[in-house]
Amino acid sequence: MALISAKQILKEAQKKCYGVGAYNVNNMEQIQAIMAAAKETQSPVIIQASRGALKYSNFTYLGYLMKAAVIENLDIPVAMHLDHGNSLESVIRAIDLGFSSVMIDGSLMEDGKTASTYDYNVNVTCSVVEYAHARGVSVEAEIGTLGGLEDDIGSGKIHLTDPNEAKKFVDETGVDSLAIAIGTSHGAYKFKGVVNLAFDVLKKVRELIDIPIVLHGASSVPKKLICEVNKYGGKISGAAGVPMTSLQEAIKLGVSKINVDTDGRLAITAAIRKAFMVTPEKFDPRDYLGYARTALTNLIISKMKDFGTAGHSNDYSQDS
Ligand code: G3H
Ligand code: 13P
Ligand code: ZN
Repeated sequence: MALISAKQILKEAQKKCYGVGAYNVNNMEQIQAIMAAAKETQSPVIIQASRGALKYSNFTYLGYLMKAAVIENLDIPVAMHLDHGNSLESVIRAIDLGFSSVMIDGSLMEDGKTASTYDYNVNVTCSVVEYAHARGVSVEAEIGTLGGLEDDIGSGKIHLTDPNEAKKFVDETGVDSLAIAIGTSHGAYKFKGVVNLAFDVLKKVRELIDIPIVLHGASSVPKKLICEVNKYGGKISGAAGVPMTSLQEAIKLGVSKINVDTDGRLAITAAIRKAFMVTPEKFDPRDYLGYARTALTNLIISKMKDFGTAGHSNDYSQDS
């Protein structure tokens, strides 16, 4: 039961109206922290690796570390998910590593920068759906473009999702979940002024499609973490994220998967900076990486509670 597809996890979340965090991982400590949080709160969990993370680890290392998370936590439903796959080849590589779920981000061309056409997105997504579904692997796709990772596109403006196009896209591709753009962006600098999310777009998409909806760029960039990083020598200014209240509103309106990477990076950086400053005489990586792991565990525990994931690890039957 431990390794299941994101489709299974998200269908339950959609039915019962709670959110499931999909947490990005690059190394052992991050994976252990997320799994410890899932265990502590009895939550299903999606651990996801970006193309960059897989490349950094030479693919196999991260793949096996993620598998270890599954084997070590057989009572916790876990999906191993590819984040922002950019081609059928990247998807095949992840499935070969044992991933139970993949994202194909055809909103961009393979370079990850240039905006694609609707037809390109449909074509690449269909090829992935055919390949993945034949192997029991679920597929997330994206329509519309976020800022951050995707903001140097065309005019540089974010393209919010067109709800009618989203409906057509889901009908034409048969994807299992859909990432939409409602004004979030990747990274720590999401808003210059007030937080402004297009909840009207989300509502309309929810009315038109019945598969789980995904929100990328959903880190909250807590002020407390930014202050902690800066207190111990960091230099981050002008950072802003999506407040938890907005994420909870998005969950109420139909978002089931919430992607979080930046907040984890901040928690780890704050803990390591602090350890270096407070105990400069120490040099065993297990000291500062251990603090980082604990800090990340605590952060994810509070997200699992706030997203409503806590207590839902037993929501699944073998055939759900
Ligand atoms: O969506 C982007 C994720 O935060 C992954 O970032 O490509 O730097 O690993 P990355
Ligand atoms: P954040 O940068 O807001 O954490 O978003 C991560 C993400 O969307 C990964 O796909
Ligand atoms: Zn993303």
